[in-house]
Amino acid sequence: MDTKNYDELYKESIHHPVHFWNRQANHIHWYKFPHQTLVQNANGLYNWFADGELNTCYLALDDHIQKGNGNQTALIYDSPVTKTIKQYSFKDLRNSVAKLAGGLRKLGVEKGDTVVIYMPMIPQAVMAMLACARLGAVHSVVFGGFAPHELALRIDDAKPKVIISASYGIEFDKVLPYKPLLNKALEESTHQPNYCLIYQRHAFMGVGLPEMKPGLDIDFETLIFESEPVDCVPVLATDPLYILYTSGTTGKPKGIVRDNGGHAVAMKFSMDHIYNVRPGEVFWAASDVGWVVGHSYIVYGPLIHGCTTLLYEGKPIKTPDAGAFWRVIESHKVNVMFTAPTAIRAIKKEDPDGHLFKNYNTNSLRQLFLAGERCDPPTYEWIYQLIRKPVIDHWWQTESGWPMLSIMTGIDGSLPKSGSAGRPVCGYNIQILSEEGQELGAGQEGFVAIKLPLPPGTLKTLWKDDDGYKSNYLSTFDGYYISGDGGTKDEDNYFFIMGRIDDVINVSGHRLSTGEMEEIVASHPAIAECAVIGIEDELRGQRPIGLVVLKDGQNIKPQDLETTCCNLVRDKIGAIAYFKTALVVKRLPKTRSGKILRKAMRQLADGKSFVLPSTIDDPLIMDEIKEKMAEAGLLKVNAS
Ligand code: COA
Ligand code: AMP
Repeated sequence: MDTKNYDELYKESIHHPVHFWNRQANHIHWYKFPHQTLVQNANGLYNWFADGELNTCYLALDDHIQKGNGNQTALIYDSPVTKTIKQYSFKDLRNSVAKLAGGLRKLGVEKGDTVVIYMPMIPQAVMAMLACARLGAVHSVVFGGFAPHELALRIDDAKPKVIISASYGIEFDKVLPYKPLLNKALEESTHQPNYCLIYQRHAFMGVGLPEMKPGLDIDFETLIFESEPVDCVPVLATDPLYILYTSGTTGKPKGIVRDNGGHAVAMKFSMDHIYNVRPGEVFWAASDVGWVVGHSYIVYGPLIHGCTTLLYEGKPIKTPDAGAFWRVIESHKVNVMFTAPTAIRAIKKEDPDGHLFKNYNTNSLRQLFLAGERCDPPTYEWIYQLIRKPVIDHWWQTESGWPMLSIMTGIDGSLPKSGSAGRPVCGYNIQILSEEGQELGAGQEGFVAIKLPLPPGTLKTLWKDDDGYKSNYLSTFDGYYISGDGGTKDEDNYFFIMGRIDDVINVSGHRLSTGEMEEIVASHPAIAECAVIGIEDELRGQRPIGLVVLKDGQNIKPQDLETTCCNLVRDKIGAIAYFKTALVVKRLPKTRSGKILRKAMRQLADGKSFVLPSTIDDPLIMDEIKEKMAEAGLLKVNAS
């Protein structure tokens, strides 16, 4: 840990990044320590620690055993949905992972090969990720809530040699048929893996085991049992550790590539400096391994740092009640926790006076971090009043892989400000820019951009698509990474993230593309055109609604059309999209050049003031939309 304070360290990280990150690199174990701290590759992209060699699985497991901490608990699996609690020491986890890696090697997986992981929140998902890292193979975890179509898109892009999945997952009391969903995805995808490794969960609610296809499907436990453990394979710092797909503005997800070296250094640095947690303490990120938060702070960050991490197969509510989080904190003496504001809103809705909180001893908890979406001030105040511990909203993205704005609680005693996601984290030179790319001052709203180079741990590129990386993120303002969010800052350099400026929305902390939903809805034969916008939702932060224009002469009942559109989105993306509304409208508001005024419609629904461009085709269309939204009960009362 550095002895300097936030201001000193932050300045050093921006003005002397090479010196700063070279020093941080000393905190992890390298097979070959890097001497090229920061270089630009032939494509002009920045690479951290290019000549260093290491293995991420070694850092997460073997290193702790080497240091004599093999018997410490590495992973606690707490599953209220199956009523299971199980602990794995670093040795236990390393032994399973080493054998699984041996099994994967028998199936032909080597350094640089890709493996897709489509699993529920079970320890085998963590083992699968670490086994890939051990071999130097590149994993791509697909969130279990995604429908087969989304899985197929990712399979076709990542082209895995092997897919690792499970018989089923459990949502509250509902069984999700992972293996049949995988089968369906493979019917759609062009690429086919050599093998599917299936973890068969024991019978639950009478659900039997899915059929295994001879020659393709392999039993996960049998493979581990029959395989020899293998050692960690050294990889270059710049070799990819994983691909994680995230929603962009189109139907094609973007494959964010994370390297090994920069990532490991950033993980270690963040555990100390941002989360202020020590090796041996218990860290709990109540997310899912299918999201970036799960990658960084269920799996890699805590394990690399030598913490005990918690894998929770449950929900904030109904498993069995809104006291679930407090029960977990008490049971496992959680020291630092991370969740999404949606989860807090769900708890607040069910237990507004916090009665259940009082039933548990949560004294072990020092601080609570929130991210995934903006934390609205009422939610912030409610949770702070309830737990009476620091609550820190912090901002990051799949692309960054670790926080960009936060209170760095290990080196900064400053208080959070309600509504703000904090100050720039070391390494991130964050600025608010105008449309012309000029830096804006306090109080002025603009594009949230980061001056290059980005620090270690951030995206290296898009999978097999350097040009896509440049055009999506680096071309709007020369020398800057564009985050896709809009926001402001105040005189104390606290930033306020106001939401996406593109067609990406956040539903229950899940990042989704309205552009993709539009493509799906527009595929209905009766629909001439449509717009999908994200409107405010009390529980989920945002939810999508569709506005559709029918082709001439269509005789379809609006109610039937809505049901079909909702089912289309559910089938293609998944239930998590929460697409429940498709309003038939006569026309969509557009500029004379044909650009649909999505932002104005969103502001209309959210009861915010909006300015219609002078180039609007026909201002009366907004009145028609307002009327339709009002009929459907979608207008916030103060809509102008
Ligand atoms: N796998 C499969 N389906 C899932 C899923 C998953 N992991 N997560 C949600 N779904 C399904 C739900 O079962 C539901 O299906 P249904 O329409 O058939 O009932 C649908 O998606 C919508 O779910 P959701 O919007 O999550 O509503 P909910 O009432 O089931 O749960 C919350 C509400 C707030 C409890 C839940 O959204 C939650 O825990 N959110 C926090 C998420 C989070 O931590 N995000 C941060 C990532 S960093
Ligand atoms: P994801 O890539 O799924 O993590 O989503 C990233 C997006 O979520 C960001 O671009 C923001 O729009 C939003 N987001 C995440 N954390 C915050 C936060 N603390 N405050 C505001 N928005 C956030």
